[in-house]
Amino acid sequence: MQDITIVPLTKDRIREVTELDSQLFPLDNWSEACFPINEEQPLTYLALHTVSGKQKVIGYCTFVAIIEGELHRIGTAPGYQRKGVAQQLLNEMFIVGQKNGIEKWFLEVRASNRAAIRFYEKNGFKPVGRRKNYYKSETGREDALVMSKE
Ligand SMILES: CC(C)(COP(=O)(O)OP(=O)(O)OC[C@H]1O[C@@H](n2cnc3c(N)ncnc32)[C@H](O)[C@@H]1OP(=O)(O)O)[C@@H](O)C(=O)NCCC(=O)NCCS
Repeated sequence: MQDITIVPLTKDRIREVTELDSQLFPLDNWSEACFPINEEQPLTYLALHTVSGKQKVIGYCTFVAIIEGELHRIGTAPGYQRKGVAQQLLNEMFIVGQKNGIEKWFLEVRASNRAAIRFYEKNGFKPVGRRKNYYKSETGREDALVMSKE
C-alpha cells in the first residue's frame, strides 16, 4: 500500500490503538498504560490510512531500543493485512534501532502464529529458544518461540 503514513503514537490515538490491540490479541490485550508516550524518543509507531477523509490507525508497532532491541507488539488490522503495512512499521523500528546503535533484536511469538513467524523470518529473525507455556491459549497454555536478529 502506498498511501500509508507512519507516525509516532500520540495521546489522541491511544484508544484506537488499544481497540485494535484487543481485536488482534483477544487473550492478552494491553491497556492504555502499556503504550507509553515518549515524545523525545518514540517507541510506538502507528500506520495511518485515510478513509473518507479521516485518518485511521490500521497498524502499530511497539518496542524498546536501549542496548538491545526488543519488539513487543506489532499488528495490522484485518482487511489491511498482506499489503506491506507491518513491513513499513518494522522498517521504522530498524531505523530507530540504527540511530540508537542497536545491533541485536529479540522478540517472542506464539509458537502457533505461523503468519507472524513467516513475517519475522522474512526479516532475518531466527529461532533461538522456547518459553514453555508462556501464553494463555484457548485450550490452556501455549509456548513462546524466542527469535533474534543481529
Ligand atoms: C503478522 C502480521 C503483523 C503481519 O502484518 P502484515 O501487515 O499483514 O504483513 P506484511 O504485509 O507487511 O507482510 C510482509 C511479509 O511477511 C510475510 N507474511 C506476512 N503475513 C503472512 C502470512 N499470513 N503468511 C505467510 N507470510 C506472511 C510475507 O513474506 C509478507 O510479504 P508478501 O506479502 O510480499 O509475501 C499480521 O498478520 C497481524 O497483525 N497478525 C495479528 C497480530 C500478530 O500476530 N502480531 C504478531 C505477534 S506480536
